[in-house]
Amino acid sequence: MNETVIRTEGLTKIFEQGKKREVVALNEVNIDVSRGEVVGLLGPNGAGKTTLIRVLIGLLTPTAGRAYVLGRDVTEEIDYIRERVALLPQEAGIYERLTARENIVYYGGMYGIPEEELQQRADRLLDIVGLREKEDYQVKGFSGGMKRKVLVARSLVSEPEIVFLDEPTTGVDTIGARVVRNLLKKLSSEQNRTIILTTHDLNEVAELCDRVGILNEGHLVAVGKPSDIEEQFKAANLEEVFVGLFTGEGVYEQ
Ligand SMILES: Nc1ncnc2c1ncn2[C@@H]1O[C@H](COP(=O)(O)OP(=O)(O)OP(=O)(O)O)[C@@H](O)[C@H]1O
Ligand SMILES: [Mg+2]
Repeated sequence: MNETVIRTEGLTKIFEQGKKREVVALNEVNIDVSRGEVVGLLGPNGAGKTTLIRVLIGLLTPTAGRAYVLGRDVTEEIDYIRERVALLPQEAGIYERLTARENIVYYGGMYGIPEEELQQRADRLLDIVGLREKEDYQVKGFSGGMKRKVLVARSLVSEPEIVFLDEPTTGVDTIGARVVRNLLKKLSSEQNRTIILTTHDLNEVAELCDRVGILNEGHLVAVGKPSDIEEQFKAANLEEVFVGLFTGEGVYEQ
């Protein structure tokens, strides 16, 4: 129990944006995640959520500090990590010319999963996200939400120990979003998979997340169970926490 699968220590990422312009996208972030947890990363646009995920999966190197995934340093053993985690990117590279099934199978092939097993996993995933009837259609004709569902399915085909999902339900309709949420909940509760997701939907957070981390301008300004954070900020819900943190409207004084 309580095995730590992600740990960051003073994790900092600075981007150079043209001459003498820097953005501190992550500013000394310390966060621990235990196996089986569902953790939501929240915060306004540009807060650093995607950057944190990209560092944890080795797509960006930290400027300072450390990040460990499954006990391995992301700057030293990224191959070990990548075999065991998966990512649904915010701006995902879906293969437009491939069908829904081919997208899943092709992606799974990169993990070296045998063909027969791969097709069975694709069957299951296509059933779950409700795209079985469309499995042989080219993805380029899909709606935004349908593409998102293909990508959610694709990100799970390797049966990763940790799955990072960057806005998995953005653009997905109500029922589809529910399907995705239920799938993620099941993965966590029944298979003890660790799930890190970002979202702007606070109802989704309330329903899904064991804990949240709120980022603002690269700082992790709060981390904990939603109920504990609400208590800490003397707020009735997470939306009030956000209003207090990000608008300066001072709802707490009213
Ligand atoms: N490749 C990059 N080059 C330069 N700056 C970047 C790069 N990626 C991100 N940034 C900057 O880092 C900051 C954090 O960006 P990030 O994408 O992590 O935000 P986010 O919290 O995911 O926002 P959103 O909710 O809009 O997805 C922003 O100021 C952004 O402009
Ligand atoms: Mg983002």
